[in-house]
Amino acid sequence: MNNTKVRIQAAVTGCGLVCLCLVLVWIFRVEPPSVDTHPKEQTFNLDQFIDAETCGGCHDEIMAQWQDSTHHLSHQDPVYTRVAKFYLQGLTEAGHIAEAESCVKCHTPVGYVSGFPRKVSDEFSHVQDIPAQGIQCDYCHVAVDITKMYNNGLVLSPGQGEDDPGIKHGPFDDTEPEFHEAAFSKLHTDSKICGTCHNVKHVAFGTDLETTYTEWENGPYNSPDPEKHVSCQGCHMYQRPGVPATGSTPRPKNPGSATPDAKQRPHIFTHYFVGANSGLPEMFSDQEKSDMAVERLRHAAEISLEMEKEHIARVVVTNTGAGHSLPTGLTDMRQVWIELTLADSDGNIVFQTGVPDENNELPKNTVIFNTIFGDGKGNPVANIAKAKEILSDTRIPVGESVAHLFKLNGSPKRGYTLTARLLYRSMPQRILNQLPGEPIGPLPVVEMAAVNKIF
Ligand code: HEC
Ligand code: HEC
Ligand code: HEC
Ligand code: HEC
Ligand code: HEC
Repeated sequence: MNNTKVRIQAAVTGCGLVCLCLVLVWIFRVEPPSVDTHPKEQTFNLDQFIDAETCGGCHDEIMAQWQDSTHHLSHQDPVYTRVAKFYLQGLTEAGHIAEAESCVKCHTPVGYVSGFPRKVSDEFSHVQDIPAQGIQCDYCHVAVDITKMYNNGLVLSPGQGEDDPGIKHGPFDDTEPEFHEAAFSKLHTDSKICGTCHNVKHVAFGTDLETTYTEWENGPYNSPDPEKHVSCQGCHMYQRPGVPATGSTPRPKNPGSATPDAKQRPHIFTHYFVGANSGLPEMFSDQEKSDMAVERLRHAAEISLEMEKEHIARVVVTNTGAGHSLPTGLTDMRQVWIELTLADSDGNIVFQTGVPDENNELPKNTVIFNTIFGDGKGNPVANIAKAKEILSDTRIPVGESVAHLFKLNGSPKRGYTLTARLLYRSMPQRILNQLPGEPIGPLPVVEMAAVNKIF
């Protein structure tokens, strides 16, 4: 056998391999090896889904509550759209790109199941009206099952549009409305319908990016005793203005009717879907929902303060109101931190920590409750698309307390006041500053709890 032949054969085999690879790449082009591969993914026509305005024609109060909620704004949210487009830039690794493209599955779910947008790089200005309504009425109320408890495993059974709206699934088992059929759905009364989107895993690496459902599932509110069991809906769909409905406040029923003509019921689930984000509704001039987020945050935690030694203060924060860790969700971005201030008897500041600097960024030594992701080699990453590991998680689990010691610059004198505040903002300025285009922010800083001690 001469060398030439071997070389030709090697070249042919090489070419074969390349071709095979190309074919494989083509076959798996939509879903590279990932935790998200599911062969029977559902697809529908967009005209099977009904405009939220149509539902609002009868369900007027529910419509007004959902309008400008984080669910309604999940696609239009400028913080989300701009972060998503920005995170995609400059990525080269397949796993990173797969994750950065995947956001629309939850943020624009009607679009995803009806063909557009399928990925973040699709032109968002071409998104039709109904998908642009984000997580809307018909999407949630045609859900019939769940395939997995992360990355939106909802199984849908939509009707054929307004002429034949199909079955809307909900909490009642005794109703036959005229416009649409109705059926009782255990799924809608269960935290799982929320949890399948409120647990987010990296599509290629499997890293837990958001774990709200799991935190709740492992916590005391998921009690086997029905008297003590509080679902996501049990707090978040009881809240209304003046009724924060948290773990530390009453959660009274909301008697009323689902449409102006429907019968009176002991409880109508509210649809404000308020969490902690007060900045987003504000951007859409919805002061009511912004105030509700502040009200919720003010009933989420308690803070206490005592002197451990002459010049060492001990601050304890307890998660008293949340049904999950504090904060929860996107906790590489969400910021809950302690600000500590010592002032003399004239009010002059003697010592302070946890105050944003002139660029509106928190100093490095700030005591902050959050999650930091890493690249798999121990280096922190800001872009979730690159998150291969959790480097640290300092959040406060349900019902638990965390203590921190602060060394003051000397012992407080008579007449001095020491103040500890627990503060929240939804995103660091550092991320917002990197986004191209119109600047966003500064986002509101909310005081969740405060305590002081006069010497
Ligand atoms: C995120 C999913 C979601 C969205 C979006 C949503 N709903 Fe609901 N809705 C629910 C769940 C879950 C329940 C039942 C809660 C339970 O039983 O614990 C419910 C209950 C209802 C009910 C029964 C009456 C009540 O409120 O208790 C009606 C009617 C209703 N929704 C209509 C709507 C309309 C109209 C919209 C849009 C304006 C909408 N929903 C948006 C999840 C959703
Ligand atoms: C023509 C008026 C009308 C329109 C339009 C309408 N509904 Fe209803 N819907 C009703 C009535 C009436 C009820 C029964 C309320 C009751 O019995 O308390 C109802 C009940 C429901 C329920 C509860 C079902 C159950 O068994 O628990 C859901 C969920 C619901 N509607 C969702 C929707 C959605 C989503 C839309 C838009 C696609 C919509 N509705 C449009 C009148 C309407
Ligand atoms: C289809 C996926 C999906 C489902 C189902 C879903 N959510 Fe959400 N939810 C989201 C997304 C995405 C956002 C954030 C949107 C944004 O801020 O851009 C969100 C936001 C929220 C917020 C506000 C968070 C904040 O920062 O203030 C709350 C509270 C919430 N959801 C509760 C629920 C509850 C309760 C249920 C179940 C009844 C539920 N969600 C079902 C995807 C979903
Ligand atoms: C016992 C009441 C309670 C239950 C149960 C509960 N929550 Fe919350 N939730 C809160 C409170 C209080 C806050 C505000 C403090 C915070 O951000 O954690 C909150 C905030 C949130 C936020 C915003 C987090 C942020 O900082 O951006 C989301 C999202 C959320 N909840 C989703 C859920 C989901 C999904 C479930 C069910 C798996 C659930 N919640 C169960 C009380 C509750
Ligand atoms: C499995 C569902 C799911 C997927 C996929 C998803 N998200 Fe989200 N996203 C959520 C939920 C739930 C929240 C609300 C959590 C909270 O409030 O902390 C949220 C909130 C956000 C927010 C906060 C918006 C604000 O106004 O503060 C940003 C930014 C965001 N997501 C970006 C992304 C990006 C970028 C991707 C893709 C790389 C992505 N999300 C993929 C479920 C999802």
